[in-house]
Amino acid sequence: MFFRKKSAESAAGSGAASGQGNGGVHVSMTVNGKAVAAEIDPRMLLVQFLREHLRLTGTHVGCDTSQCGACVVHVDGRAAKSCTLLAATCDGSKVTTIEGLAQDGKLHPMQEAFRQHHGLQCGFCTPGMIMSAVDLVQRSGGKLDEHAIRDGLEGNLCRCTGYHNIVAAVTAGAANMAGMRQAAE
Ligand code: FES
Ligand code: FES
Repeated sequence: MFFRKKSAESAAGSGAASGQGNGGVHVSMTVNGKAVAAEIDPRMLLVQFLREHLRLTGTHVGCDTSQCGACVVHVDGRAAKSCTLLAATCDGSKVTTIEGLAQDGKLHPMQEAFRQHHGLQCGFCTPGMIMSAVDLVQRSGGKLDEHAIRDGLEGNLCRCTGYHNIVAAVTAGAANMAGMRQAAE
């Protein structure tokens, strides 16, 4: 289940997205806690903005059909496929990419769980998997069994088919995140 702020497809007919006047559009947003602003092509996708403009290449592009989930980031706290969003429609948003998860040099508990449980093989799907998993845990209210994890990650494909370890990693990551929450209370 992915949040769609405004899809590239649906926005394609709007004035901003159609490139009327051949002009760029001004966009400003907060990415990984840092304010960024730029003049961009109104047709630029969020994933292009992140990768090509900000050089945050941890967000991957694995398909051109919005199916693989390699491009998942958080937009205003919800998982979103950044290949389905125009950067211009994210004006004013808070975006978090995989590069923004670790804090003070310490891996996020979900990243740590993927490391400990070998939840990756080639690693191509991993940033999107982790961003989706963090969102899934945050939305689950602590109730996540194997079925719910597999269901919740249906929008993320692993071409190495390492799903068994990914589910184990998300289970452990969810427990780690719950432990962190309790420690903070
Ligand atoms: Fe976005 Fe595949 S690149 S879903
Ligand atoms: Fe290779 Fe998932 S680890 S695509």
